[in-house]
Amino acid sequence: MKLWAGRFSKEADQITNDFNSSIAVDSRMFAQDIDGSIAHAQMLGAKGIISGEDSEKITAELQKIKNEITDGSLTIDPDAEDIHTFVEAVLTERIGDAGKRLHTGRSRNDQVATDIRLYLRDECDSVSGLIESLIAVLKEKSEEYRNTVMPGYTHLQRAQPITLGYHIAAYAEMFSRDLGRLSDARARMNVSPLGSGALAGTTYPIDRDMTAKALGFDSFTENTLDGVSDRDFCAELAAALSIVMAHLSRFCEEIILWCSWEFKFIELDDAFSTGSSIMPQKKNPDIAELIRGKAGRVFGDLSTLLTMMKGLPLAYNKDMQEDKEAVFDAFDTVKLCLQAFTPMIKTMKVLPDNMRKAAAEGFINATDCADFLVSKGLPFRDAYKAAGELVALCIEKGLTLENLPLEEYKKVCELFDEGVYPAIDLNNCVKRRGM
Ligand code: ARG
Repeated sequence: MKLWAGRFSKEADQITNDFNSSIAVDSRMFAQDIDGSIAHAQMLGAKGIISGEDSEKITAELQKIKNEITDGSLTIDPDAEDIHTFVEAVLTERIGDAGKRLHTGRSRNDQVATDIRLYLRDECDSVSGLIESLIAVLKEKSEEYRNTVMPGYTHLQRAQPITLGYHIAAYAEMFSRDLGRLSDARARMNVSPLGSGALAGTTYPIDRDMTAKALGFDSFTENTLDGVSDRDFCAELAAALSIVMAHLSRFCEEIILWCSWEFKFIELDDAFSTGSSIMPQKKNPDIAELIRGKAGRVFGDLSTLLTMMKGLPLAYNKDMQEDKEAVFDAFDTVKLCLQAFTPMIKTMKVLPDNMRKAAAEGFINATDCADFLVSKGLPFRDAYKAAGELVALCIEKGLTLENLPLEEYKKVCELFDEGVYPAIDLNNCVKRRGM
């Protein structure tokens, strides 16, 4: 029997039931749903809206239901309309009238809004924990490779010498900003909508502050229409997660390039690579490619949320039931990707000789060569031109700036002396840049 059986003279069609049901998606919020109901029941008891006895009965039975779902002795009915309906139905079946009093002064609209915020608050904490572990690994690696010279690139062309440690530290910065974005969004989300009712609050003398505090919220939503229909936090979190994925995806793209024979800067551990079914020589960076691919999913989740919300009049509309699948998918995907990415980075083998060789062949000290002439008093534009001529000369002679004889330097510009060699030494170049 449906919650709204009084108004209706017919049972819903099976297709309507299945189509309407969100249990497959929202059952994962059972613990948050029950916690919210316990807070509500205790408040109702404290305010004398229901009896203290009913309030206690409800609390005790809800706690039992939560334990039973957790240990698997109570299975969530896949035919239930949603998790809220299921929990209330089990409660009422077990304790009768007291159970029927739980929903006094509440609606599923403020209930679901409360549940999602509670659930996502935990999800935020677990993703942040995973990002913190990744940053710790990146900091270790950045320290380990702080003297490993490699070419830095712009336009994917060898540009100036950097160290691998410095390159990795750039990603640590990016992920630290991600942590900041998640914590900002979490703080804005941590406000209780409970007590907003269906849309216009309630006539019962409820205590919104009490339920907010019991559930660990910082405060409660001021406007009840906004309380039930705000899903900004879902979009904000999906946006923050999209940026996490964009960062992971960029890093993965570099890992994939670095693993190629053309670069061979790193080798992934066998445990984090895959082979080919036909080509025996292959070792593929599938994890990195999949993470790069899954970025698209998370961007899609953000787009789903914004598009779903953009045309909705106030207040609650059933469209909003679609919020959970999108935002849960974004969290699931990011967690999965971080769980695979961090150990892949931790175990990757770096090939410093290949990095150094690429750095040496790339004339990436040409800027430093020009800077040497600047230190001798030549204007930068002239120095730049002289260094360019030297690069062309080296290419013609099959030499590098390091092994080009001094007389050749002098032919291009009289100001060169022995000091040019330490000035263009790659180790000195990165040191001078403070890497
Ligand atoms: N399953 C619904 C959701 O996820 C719960 C709220 C239903 N409210 C309603 N008035 N139909 O949005």
